[in-house]
Order: sequence, then structure tokens, then C-alpha cells
Amino acid sequence: MSKKTIILGIETSCDETAASIITENEQGIPILLSNIISSQIEIHKEFGGVVPELAARAHIEKIDWIVQKAIDDSGIKIEDIDAVASTAGPGLIVCLSVGLSFGKALAFSLDKPFIAVNHLEGHALSPRINSTLNYPYLLLLISGGHSQFLSVQGLEKYKRLGTTIDDALGEAFDKTAKLLGIEFPGGPQIEILAQKGNPEKYDLPKPIFNRGGCNLSFAGLKTAILKITKNIKTDQEKYDLAASFQKTVEKILYKKTKIAFSEFEKQSNLKDKIFVVAGGVAANKNIRSMLIDLCNTEGYKSIFPPIELCGDNAAMIAMVGLEKYKLKKFNKLDYPARPRWALDEEAIFLKGAGVKL
Ligand code: KG4
Ligand code: ZN
Repeated sequence: MSKKTIILGIETSCDETAASIITENEQGIPILLSNIISSQIEIHKEFGGVVPELAARAHIEKIDWIVQKAIDDSGIKIEDIDAVASTAGPGLIVCLSVGLSFGKALAFSLDKPFIAVNHLEGHALSPRINSTLNYPYLLLLISGGHSQFLSVQGLEKYKRLGTTIDDALGEAFDKTAKLLGIEFPGGPQIEILAQKGNPEKYDLPKPIFNRGGCNLSFAGLKTAILKITKNIKTDQEKYDLAASFQKTVEKILYKKTKIAFSEFEKQSNLKDKIFVVAGGVAANKNIRSMLIDLCNTEGYKSIFPPIELCGDNAAMIAMVGLEKYKLKKFNKLDYPARPRWALDEEAIFLKGAGVKL
């Protein structure tokens, strides 16, 4: 029996220190052997957001044992690793540098290839872990750092159909929560408060709703909420505002996803209509059920990867490493950290929104 490829993935682009081992089975399906994630939420809580210097320090403190644990939990030996893949961007440069340097040093010491991975490419390929999912598929990535519709056509073949022109959706949830006096990251709390509120109470703006294709914008919502919170006196008003915010987000995503569907269907090689939703905000039950209903109406199969593969993780980095390894797409050890690194380099101008990214 031939030896199966084994890849170590390392992720430190923001506030999660993560390492993972991936291999493949006899059918060539990527199989996750370990997936270790250490979140820094407790460190950044009191600051209401991620503090780069503190995040980098925590990565430096944790990276050794996180990588060691990923190897131990997977049951492999360090010398079985065929290549080391690290996130090289986009992200915070001081954070990226930790995992990138660690990955390069380990690859060098093991005399194995090094693979630099785009973090967004990781999110794009994450639904293929432990799965037979084939290309192409439409991905909606909604997290604290990203909000985009991506047509995933194959390794290094991505077409960004739409993106946020300002805040990411998770960021909008967290900022709204902060205005309501809820601790970072407040997204999950907004969902809980919204259950007790009236979603029709406040009429909030829906930025670029009728223009800009399937591009998104959430910054205007925050401004409107800031004005309202100044006059809020009761808990019930808080619940109503949380519910109204969530409902407005649902309306925006409903309309923009429909537009993304029609853009996605324009491509010629479409066999199945598949819609994958990833990122922390995909955990929101109202958003989830609205998108499932939309998929049922529009004839799409909906896929929500398990939550540990939705947020930032290293399994997705190892997954990209695995596909690149097969094509011998290796990188030199002087590969730089790339804080800004678009997946689809052509998608720099937002048609219709009149905004340059
Ligand atoms: O993908 P993720 O785990 O990590 C990064 O973005 O790094 O996403 C985290 C984001 C946060 O903004 C958080 O508030 C949001 O996802 N989030 C939610 C929910 N759970 C997490 N937003 C709305 N509803 C939720 N249930
Ligand atoms: Zn991410």
C-alpha cells in the first residue's frame, strides 16, 4: 500500500493559534486527523476587539505546544509529515509572521517542502475536508474579518462575485453588541436578545440594497444603531433593536444571495447548484434557516460545514497544502507575510457600487 500524503497546517493570521494534520483515504478524500484551535477571546475581551501586539505574543507563547498537540493527537510521527503549510496572508502582519516563521523553520529542519497559504483560500476549500464535494460551488463567507460571495472553481481558481465594501458582517454584529453594552464578541448574544424582541420595531437602513450587485455594506447600519441607542431606556427596547438589526441583516443577505445565485449560474461548467455557508456568523440560526429556505426555493443544495471548520482553523490551511502538494506547488523559505492578499486579484473594482477597494 502506498504511503498517503500527510500535511501539517499552521494558522496564526488573527486571534486563533491553530495547527492541524490532514491526510487522504484510499479514495483520495481529505481526512482530518487532528484540528487544534486555541482562541484568544479572553485576552481581547476587555479591549472590545483584537489587539495585534497581544495577539502576536499569545501566538508566540502557544505555537510550540499547539503544533506538538496536533501531531500527537493525529497519531502520526513528526517525520511522517510530507510538507508544512502556513498561512502567509491576509491578516495582521505581526501575527502572520509567527506561524509563517515557525512553519518555514520546521519544514527546513525536516527537509520537507514549505507551502505558503492564502487564508481565504483555506476558507474556500474547507468544505472539501472529510467530504466528496466537487468543484464548482458558491461560497458565502461571513465571519468577523470577511464577508464575500466566492465562486470556487478549483485550486487557485476563484471568482469573487461580491464582497463587503466596509465592515464584515461579524464585525457589524460585534459593533452593534458593543453599542448595546454586550462584551466582545457579541454576535452570539445579539441572537439570544433578538429572540425576545420585535423585529419590526426599528426601520434600519439597508446600504447598497438596490445597487452594487451582490456586494455588501454594513457600516451605515452601525451609524443608525448608534443614534437609536442614545435614546434607549428599557431592556425591551434593547431586545427590539437586536431583533430589528438581525432582521435587517437577513433581508440584506436574502436579496444579495439571490443576486449571487444568478451571477454564479452564468458560468458554463455548472453541474450542480451548491451553496456553502462558512464563517462564524453562519452559526446564527435565523440566518441559517433563511438561507436554507432560499436554497430550497431556488433549487440549491445547501452545505453548512461543522462549526470548528467554519471559523478560523488550521485544517483548512492543511487542506490547501494537500492540494498544492499534489501539484508540487511549493514555496521558497523567503516567502513574505502578505497582510493584504486578495484571492481574486482582478476583483479590485466594485461594479455599480462606485467604490474602489
Ligand atoms: O469565523 P469566526 O469564528 O472568526 C473570525 O472571524 O476570526 O467569526 C467570528 C464572528 C464574530 O464576529 C462573532 O460575533 C460572529 O462570528 N458570530 C455570530 C454568531 N456566532 C458568532 N454572529 C451572529 N450570530 C451568531 N450566532
Ligand atoms: Zn478567517
